[in-house]
Parts: sequence; C-alpha cells; structure tokens
Amino acid sequence: MCGIIGYVGQRPATPLLLDGLKRLEYRGYDSSGIALMQDDGINVMKKKGRISALEGMLNGHIADSKATVGIGHTRWATHGVPNDLNAHPHSSMGGDLVLIHNGIIENFSELKEYLSNTGYTFTSDTDTEVLANLILDFYEGDLLKAVVRALHRVAGTYGIVVMHKDHPRSMVVARKGSPLVVGVGEDEYFVASDLAAMVEHTRDVIFLNDNEVGIIEDSGFRHFNLDESPIQRQITHIDFTLEQIEKGGYRHFMLKEIMEQPQTLEDTMRGRLLPDGGIKLGGLNQHLDELANADRILLLACGTSYHAGLVGEYVIEELARIPVEVEYASEFRYRNPLIPPNTVAFAISQSGETIDTLEALREAKSRGALGLGIVNSVGSTIARESVGGVYLHAGPEIGVASTKAFTSQVTVLMMIALLLRQQRMGLDETSQDITDALRRIPDQVSTILKDHSQIVDIAKMFSRASNFLYLGRGTQYPVALEGALKLKEISYIHAEGYPAAEMKHGPIALIDRMMPVVVLAAQSGAESAKIISNTQEVRARDGVVIAVVTEDDHQMDNLANHIIRIPKTLNLLVPLLAVLPMQLLSYYVADLLGLDMDKPRNLAKAVTVE
Ligand code: F6R
Repeated sequence: MCGIIGYVGQRPATPLLLDGLKRLEYRGYDSSGIALMQDDGINVMKKKGRISALEGMLNGHIADSKATVGIGHTRWATHGVPNDLNAHPHSSMGGDLVLIHNGIIENFSELKEYLSNTGYTFTSDTDTEVLANLILDFYEGDLLKAVVRALHRVAGTYGIVVMHKDHPRSMVVARKGSPLVVGVGEDEYFVASDLAAMVEHTRDVIFLNDNEVGIIEDSGFRHFNLDESPIQRQITHIDFTLEQIEKGGYRHFMLKEIMEQPQTLEDTMRGRLLPDGGIKLGGLNQHLDELANADRILLLACGTSYHAGLVGEYVIEELARIPVEVEYASEFRYRNPLIPPNTVAFAISQSGETIDTLEALREAKSRGALGLGIVNSVGSTIARESVGGVYLHAGPEIGVASTKAFTSQVTVLMMIALLLRQQRMGLDETSQDITDALRRIPDQVSTILKDHSQIVDIAKMFSRASNFLYLGRGTQYPVALEGALKLKEISYIHAEGYPAAEMKHGPIALIDRMMPVVVLAAQSGAESAKIISNTQEVRARDGVVIAVVTEDDHQMDNLANHIIRIPKTLNLLVPLLAVLPMQLLSYYVADLLGLDMDKPRNLAKAVTVE
C-alpha cells in the first residue's frame, strides 16, 4: 500500500530517494519522509502531504547533505491519521534505529503494551513505531539478528527497511506479504517496494519472497530465510517500461485493481476474523453497546458504495435482525429525514471525501444518530468526522471505476453484520459457517480471475450493443445495479439494473433479440427457481441471456445463451464473487471500444462537488 525506497552507494542519497518517492507517487499517498545516515547519527525529515511538501521542507536543511546511505517512504495511512508524526520513517526511542514499513502489524497493541511496560515511550499512533522499538529491544550489536528475533514476535504483514546508526553503511530488509525488491547497480544498491522507484538506475534486481530477510552492505547483498539459513537467488533483469511497472504489468489501473482483489480481500479481513468465528473490528470497540441496541441502521452512500450498502441491508437484516435503510446520501441530506433514537448511521465511501456522503453523515449526526464510517482512505474527511468505523485496507484505488473498494465494502458490511449478530445473540454455528466461507473467498476470487477468457469472448460478442439489462434477486439485485453502472460509466453503453421480478412491470417491453440480458443466478434455494422463471420470460421474447451461475448448477444449460460459472459459496456471500464477471465484462467491452476506462469522460475519482 505504501512506498519504500532505500539506497546504499557512492552518490548523494537525497535526490535519489526523492526521485524514487516521486516515481511511487502515482499510487496516491498522504505523507512522506526520508532518513539519511549522517556523521552524527540518523537524520529523519518527514511531512504530511505530497512529495513536493517534503521537498520544500528539505530545502535549506539536509537537501544538500552528502549522505550516501538513506531510506524514504510514502505513506498511505493504515494506523493513525496522515500527519507529520505518523509519517515514516519511524525512529526507535532515542533515535538510534530507524525503520520504514509497508503492511500491518496485527498484534501491535500487545507488543506496544509489552514495550510500554519495559519503559519504551511512543510519539506516533503507528504500528511501525512499535516495530522499531521491538527491534531495538532485541538489539545487542547485530542488526540482522535483532530484526529476525523481532519478526518472530510479529503477526501480520511487512516489507521493512531498517537502519541503525552503529552500522552506517548497511540496512536490513525483510518481507512478509508486502513486496520488496533489491536493485543491484554498479557499486550501489537500491531497495524498493515497487520497481518503478529504482528502474531509472538499475534493471538488475533480486526479488525477496515472504519470510525472507537480508542485509545490504557496500560489499554486497546477503539474503536469508527467517531461520537464518542462507539463500542464493539469481539476479533478474527487468525490461518493462516504467508505465508498465506502475500498472503492475497491466494495461490499465482498472484491470490491475480488479486482479488485486484476492489480496485486497485478505487485507480487509486480516486480523478481523477470529478462529472461533468471532469478529474483531477495533474501530467499533467503543460503540459495541450502541450497535447491539440499535433500533435502526442507516447506510448512507453514493454510486458503487451505495450498491455495497444495498448488499449490507440484506446481510445485516438477515444476520442481526436490525432494520436497515440504505439511502442515496444526496437524497437523504435534503429531505428532512426522521432519525428516531438509537439510530446508527454508517457513511460508506471509498475516497472518504464525497461531499454528499459527508454532508449526509453530518446531517445524521446532527439529528442524534451515532455517525460511523466505512472508508478506504485513512484520515479522509469522512473518516475524521465519524466517531468510529472500519477501514477497508484495500489500498489506493486509482481507476475511476470503483472495483476493489466494492468487494472490500461488502466484506466489511458482512463482518459488521456478524459482529452485530454476535453482540445480540452470541456466537453460533451460523457465524462460524459464514466466517469459514469468508476465509475461502480470496481463493475463489483468484479462481474466477485466473482464467477469464470466456468473459473476453462474451465482451467481443456484445461490445457493439446499444443497451444492456442486468437482472438479479435478493443479494444479486445490487450486483445487477453495480454491473449496469460499471458498464455505462466506462463504455458509455446504456445499461439498467433491475430486480428480476420487476422486469415484467415495465422493462420487459424493451426485450428483443438486440437486447443482451445479464442474469445473476448464482444463488441457491427458492431464489434460484424464481430467477429461472424470469429468464424464461426473457428467452420467450428473444432476449439474449448471459447467465452467471455456480459451477455445479445446470438449470440454465438449455436456457441461457452464454453461461459464466463461478465457485459456490453461501447465498449471502455470492455478491463478492458474482460482481467479478461484471467488472471484467465492462472492462473488456470498454477496451474493445478503444476507451480509456481509467479516466472515463465526465467522471472524477472523488466527487467533492454537490
Ligand atoms: C463508480 C464510482 C462512483 C463512486 C461514488 C462514491 O464506479 O466509482 O459511483 O462509487 O462516486 O464514491 P466514494 O465511495 O469515494 O464516496
């Protein structure tokens, strides 16, 4: 999520670090910093805002430093709001050891408590500062050993680079779940989270795998497993362009973000699903009583986030038996809404800056509701104005069409539904079954994404259509809405999502052989039989049906014109899988039409106007 760059060599480090950070900036960050190895110790400079803010600050300070060893970081906040103090690099108490970190230390509260009891003090809210002090706690003169010992105590993910003032020509690197690559130049070494940060200087790299650690020194790079056994890995020569690298080798950010979903869903759930089926959402801890006693839940959002809210309505009502209303934020704020006592309002927003959602949250709070947030962008205005909430941890979303944020929002709403159920009714088998099924979702998402050539073929067949209809029932109705929104916003083809049974109350008049109808039919039970009847109604009028069904379901075999199969999961979780073919279909249709789906016409990533 964040960006890392490190340098050990003969050239002045500052401009190399700043250039590297700028190369990482395309991902959208909120603060940055560098640490330079100076004669009198390690000098750390960091600043909230874009790299230009850091650059401005360095002018006249250490910008002209001759330091030839240093590290830099761009932060996309996960623990603690974006500000100067929470920015990286983080120093251990006393400042001898400095660390940059990508990822999340799940057990940071326990480690912090342990370290506080041992006398350590902290200046930031971050998990990274805890790790810096933990490494220092194990330090007895050998930095590599101290890092290894500390990492054995850590649960979570990390890509880290560590410097200690007693080792002025070296740095220790380690990786678990967060990418790190070492660049090998002539008499110089780089380390970065992303090839883009170093490719200008070297294309010879050594990739670190999970649970590996290494030390970069003037004499070379030594590389070990966490049990300290040595690793010999070949140097890989990279010949991608910078643009390809920034997009992770994908042609567009949208496709990259679609393909990232197995990982982003893991990140959204990390540390939150307990082995016994329980749910831990730290940002709601202060409000568990109000949540358990809520008489009504309001979900306020716009666009794709609103569709995630509609899924949330189904799952919260089903699992927690609390009435839920999902409202377009723009409508809610202007209609003198009634907010009875014991109302909990969640604002759902990827950017955390959508003005209508923000104003709706303010309105709900001013009328007495408990105002919470489900937000991706840490420290954004909605996150700050919510009294508590849950972050998505999906990483920056750059493509204008929201994809990975939707699946993370649905996952968070699912976890909230389970938490509410457990607060009201205790832990039961249903909770356990759902958390087990949730854990399987990232692998099932991978399965869908791995081979999606059939969706490319379907896109080819229908890219010239003028209209699309999307139908779904139950939790699949919001997926129908989302499928239609994705298609229209990036391909400019008119598309409508409808509850399948509503079709015969009007839209059925539109159906003819020119009308592709996407039928979302991947749920089992009573809804499945009903959606088959709706599909028959479409076929009887020559409509062309593209059906999404589960892998073992053959009811559509002689009915639909095209069948997309997805893995089987619980009905409540189907949106997390069924939305993927919708995202891919719209992406490939737009691509075939030669459109720039990362920047569709007339749209902006964060809608901060009313
Ligand atoms: C659709 C899309 C928009 C956003 C909407 C809300 O792909 O991206 O509909 O979902 O503008 O944005 P956030 O979630 O940032 O509040």
